Amino acid sequence: MIPGTLIIEITYIIAVVLFILSLKWLSSPATARRGVWAGEVGMVLAIAGTLLYRGIVDYKWIAIALVLGAIIGVPLGNVQMTAVPQRTALSHAFGALCVTLVGTAEFYLRAPNVQPFMMSVLSLEVILGGLTITGSLMAAGKLQEVLPQRPITYKGQNFVNLGMLLVAIGIAVRLVLHPADMHLYPFMVGIALLFGVMMIVPIGGADMPTVISLLNSYAGLSAAAMGFVLNSKLLIVAGSLDGASGFILSVNMSKAMNRSFSNVLFGAFGQVQTAAPGAVETRNVRSATPEEAASILSAANKVVIVPGYGMAVAQAQHKVRELYDALTKRGVDVKFGIHPVAGRMPGHMNVLLAEADIPYDKLLDMDEINGDLPQTDVALVIGANDVTNPAARTDTSSPIFGMPILDVDKARTVMVIKRSMSPGFAGIDNPLYYLDNTLMLFGDAKAFVNSIVRELSGGSGGHG
Ligand code: TAP
Repeated sequence: MIPGTLIIEITYIIAVVLFILSLKWLSSPATARRGVWAGEVGMVLAIAGTLLYRGIVDYKWIAIALVLGAIIGVPLGNVQMTAVPQRTALSHAFGALCVTLVGTAEFYLRAPNVQPFMMSVLSLEVILGGLTITGSLMAAGKLQEVLPQRPITYKGQNFVNLGMLLVAIGIAVRLVLHPADMHLYPFMVGIALLFGVMMIVPIGGADMPTVISLLNSYAGLSAAAMGFVLNSKLLIVAGSLDGASGFILSVNMSKAMNRSFSNVLFGAFGQVQTAAPGAVETRNVRSATPEEAASILSAANKVVIVPGYGMAVAQAQHKVRELYDALTKRGVDVKFGIHPVAGRMPGHMNVLLAEADIPYDKLLDMDEINGDLPQTDVALVIGANDVTNPAARTDTSSPIFGMPILDVDKARTVMVIKRSMSPGFAGIDNPLYYLDNTLMLFGDAKAFVNSIVRELSGGSGGHG
């Protein structure tokens, strides 16, 4: 092996190790920052190694592409946290565009003498790449509300979609057997692009995060297929890591939202679950003031805070940190119960609470905290709704039946901060609010928590 090639191979091996470590470290909030660094350094090494490749005849176009990429990429990296899902979708679209263009160039460079194996992986590459480009753009458009969010469905939709995919696969098979039929190639790519659009049409905007993680998986698999085409072990490994992690994330999200994964795979899910007329009850609830809430909290020994989408909307995380400090100072044991799909994207609550410097060891996953809730004095729900809805355990007719929830109703007292009796994402009433041990704290999450903190700091302090 000549030294130049050896250097590239070593750079690639280090990059791959860093990618694997990155995924490992990203799985815990305590090591996530290190994970981001490892991923970034790995990517820089992968790019640097590729730029050393002897086959490069001219750096001019590469330099122009790098500058253009930076001009697009830097603003994309600075979006609001609530816009991260659509930003991620755009990244997938760019990655898939790259894969599809490279695949197309490789096809026309080799055609009509494309070996069967090469044509199979090339077809896989451009079909997955093509559907990921348009699917991701559609997903980003729906999330950014430049496209209508509501699902559009029609009779026989799955049949049409599946038919389209089968036609693209049929063309791929034909090209594997008869690569000289080059005129079929654009149809294969075109149908894949159209399929990407049609796949997303029946899915509601709020369900898009699960779809985006699935598209992430498709983009990874298409990159892995490109690795076979270009004979690049780095791409095969990196693409497989991407494909597998995106797939696992989609499965976990589907489970946490009680979606059937087969529905996700066939793009037929995401009917926005709307409440039946009159489903929001008019029964009386008990409400409390910030003063009353503060006195209940300061008399507690154990408090579990359950944040949800409303905390993100209100940007209340820093106030929640102040509440945590005020209670901890009084000797109250405060923990956080984190539901895997609280908020609107994976890890939404972890990221917000980490931003407010809440110690990581106080953030407990649903499975860990549920055992503690029966011995908890106060469960304080801040802007969470569906993830605490006991109907998921008992009401077989509920659209969220079977979804695992945080068992806040088992705490001695439950206090819920939200602005009104409006439902959450699933559009259904929450029986939690009518229980004898529940107190509603009506108001904006940030303002209400602030009032509680003020009461606590103005009060005499200490608890029995
Ligand atoms: P939701 O069930 O959506 O409830 C959020 C609650 O926050 C609402 O009931 C709303 O009530 C309240 N709220 C909104 N703005 C507020 C503010 N400024 N101050 C105080 N409260 C406010 O949220 P969740 O419990 O976090 O559950 C998440 C839902 O999203 C689940 O159904 C999940 O399946 C779905 N979902 C999650 C994801 C991921 S990956 N996390 C992706 C897609 C969908 P008011 O209007 O009365 O204030």
